[in-house]
Amino acid sequence: MFELNGKVAVVTGSGSKKGIGREIALSLSKQGASVVIADMGKEGVDEVVAEIESTGGKALGVVLNVTSEESVSNLVEKTLETFGSLDILINNAGISQKVTVEDMTLEDMKRIFNVNMFGLFLITKAALKPMKEKGWGRIISLSSVSGKRGGGVFGGAHYSASKAAVLGFSKNLAREVAKDGITVNCVAPGLVNTDIWKSMPEELAQKVIDGIPMGRPGETAEIASTITFLASEEASYITGEDIDINGGSHMD
Ligand SMILES: NC(=O)c1ccc[n+]([C@@H]2O[C@H](COP(=O)([O-])OP(=O)(O)OC[C@H]3O[C@@H](n4cnc5c(N)ncnc54)[C@H](O)[C@@H]3O)[C@@H](O)[C@H]2O)c1
Repeated sequence: MFELNGKVAVVTGSGSKKGIGREIALSLSKQGASVVIADMGKEGVDEVVAEIESTGGKALGVVLNVTSEESVSNLVEKTLETFGSLDILINNAGISQKVTVEDMTLEDMKRIFNVNMFGLFLITKAALKPMKEKGWGRIISLSSVSGKRGGGVFGGAHYSASKAAVLGFSKNLAREVAKDGITVNCVAPGLVNTDIWKSMPEELAQKVIDGIPMGRPGETAEIASTITFLASEEASYITGEDIDINGGSHMD
């Protein structure tokens, strides 16, 4: 089940040690995919590549800034040069900022959208060509519970808006490429057990937990397993979908 032998996956923002992207890359590799680790910092990228190679997996590290067309082209070029195809794109890179709308500047708004939506657009567009040529593709993007109901613990309204934009973009694209063998889906995690969770004051952490029916944050592996399923052949008839992964804190 969920076998990905022969598939090539690009995971953006996958060079962060405790982040969701790294876990997604490890999970896809475990199922047999060759994985491209793409992130802003070379050191983080190299560490994840070494980790995958140490388990016998195939990985390529590329320094990427999703907001730059040149950087995105370089990533696609290197992926095709090294592995010959680009079958799976995981749009995981994202940034956030805790600020109220009253205190938010237009620059704050632009900075968040530049990465979370415009960068996602640039790389998604670039990945469509190789996917269309092959007649097979999977595009899976990280939205968020805050894109559906607002009120993220760590984000502001600009973050919520960008994650809502990712949902609309993905559903539209899913319709455009449905006959090309390409599926386009999102996952919408609630709070995930990353560094930011661990650094939260105890009182606030308890308040957050009280709002989660399962009484705990999600684990990065729980996000990665859903994404690995969506990337697989077994998910071939699912497109334009967004899957909530939030311990019951938001249901729609
Ligand atoms: N952690 C959570 O609770 C949570 C909840 C819902 C959604 N998400 C989403 O999941 C994704 C991963 O989050 P995370 O918690 O692992 O965060 P993280 O900060 O650990 O990882 C995000 C990665 O994106 C990279 N990145 C930022 N700007 C970039 C750019 N311009 N080009 C390329 N890479 C860039 C960062 O370097 C970082 O490695 C994000 O899109 C986030 O919005 C996270």
